[in-house]
Amino acid sequence: MINKIGTHLKDIETPELIIDLDILESNVNTVSKAYKDSHLKMRAHTKNLKSPYLARKQVEAGGSNGGVCTAKVSEAEVMIEGGFNNILIANQVVSDDKIERLCSLAKFADMKVGIDNIDNLNNLSKFAIKHNVVLGVLVEINTSMFRCGVRSSEHAVELAKHAVELEGIDFKGVMSHQSIKGLPTEDERWKVGEGYLEICLESKRAIEEAGIDVEIVSTGETFTFDIALKYPEITEIQGGTYALMDLNYPYMPFDIAVKVFSTIIDIDDDKITIDAGNKCIAAPNNATPLIEGVKSELVEMGLDYSIHKISDNKKYNIGDKVYLLTTHEDGLINRWDKFVGIRKEIVEGSWDILGRGCHH
Ligand SMILES: Cc1ncc(COP(=O)(O)O)c(C=O)c1O
Repeated sequence: MINKIGTHLKDIETPELIIDLDILESNVNTVSKAYKDSHLKMRAHTKNLKSPYLARKQVEAGGSNGGVCTAKVSEAEVMIEGGFNNILIANQVVSDDKIERLCSLAKFADMKVGIDNIDNLNNLSKFAIKHNVVLGVLVEINTSMFRCGVRSSEHAVELAKHAVELEGIDFKGVMSHQSIKGLPTEDERWKVGEGYLEICLESKRAIEEAGIDVEIVSTGETFTFDIALKYPEITEIQGGTYALMDLNYPYMPFDIAVKVFSTIIDIDDDKITIDAGNKCIAAPNNATPLIEGVKSELVEMGLDYSIHKISDNKKYNIGDKVYLLTTHEDGLINRWDKFVGIRKEIVEGSWDILGRGCHH
C-alpha cells in the first residue's frame, strides 16, 4: 500500500485524496454540540461521504439519531453491510427491480423511502406484501427545487391518507431538501431557510389536521442545520456536506477537510502544472477547483493534470506539493477508491470508499 500509516505528508505519493481528521472531527463536533440536548437529531446523508466508516464517526460524535440517509438503493446496501440498520432513502425508488432490492433490505434494517406519487406508493405496497416486509414512507415535499416532491399540502395529505390504508406500508411523516444559491448573508440564509422549512411544516400540519400522526419530519442539509433548531416539530436533519465540506459554503461554521494532495510537475513563468486533473476531482456546473493558500486561477483542467496561473509573489519549485480544493464534494469522492486520513501531517489511516460508483 502506498501512503501507509505513519507516512509524513511530504512523502505522500500524489495525487491523493486526503481527509484532515482534526478538521473532520471539528465539523462533526459543531453539529453534535448543537444537537446534543435538543429535540433535533442528525441523520447523516451518506451520498456525499459514501463511507460507513465516516458515517460511524458522525453517529459516534453524538447528536445523531443513529440512522443515515442514502440517495440510492445500492448505497443503502453498502451502509447495511457497514452495520447501519436505520436507513432513509431520501429519494424516490420507482423501478420494480430496485423496489424488490429495497424489500430485501427491509429484512435486515428499518427501511424508509421518500414518496410523491400514488402509483409508486401502490407499487411499494405490492412488493412489500410479496416479500412480507414493511416499508416506512415519508411524503417528500417540494419546497423550492422542483426536482421531486409534492407541490402542495393537499397532495401531501392525499398521499398520507392513502399510505395509512395500505398493507406493507408504514406512514412515517414528511421530508424535504432544498438548496440556497450564491453566498448569502447571514440574514438572507435565515430568511430563505425559514421560508423553505415552513413550507415543509405546512404539509406536516395539514396531515395532522387530517387526523394522521406524523412521527418524522426529516429535512434540510448543511445550510439549515442551525435554522431547524428553531422548530420543535422538525425531528431530524439530513446533513451531507458539513462533515467534509467544499468551497461552496464559506459562510457556514465548517472548514474543508477533504482535499486532493498534488505535486507541481511543471512551471512556466507564472503558470504551474500539477498532477491532479478531471479524473480525480469533479467540477460540475463549471465550478472551478482552487489551490489552497495560493493566489491562483484555473487555466486548464486536463484529465490527469491542471494548469493554474499564480498571482502571488511566492517562489514555487517543481516537486512542491499543494492541496486542490473542490467545489463539489460528492463528485470528488465518487472518483476515488480510498481516503487517506491525516492528522498533523502524518497518515493515520486509509479507508475504502465502499459506496463509490453506487449509482443504482
Ligand atoms: C435529499 C437530500 N438531503 C440532504 C442532502 C444533503 O445536503 P448537503 O450536502 O447540503 O448537506 C442532499 C444533497 O444533495 C439531498 O439530496
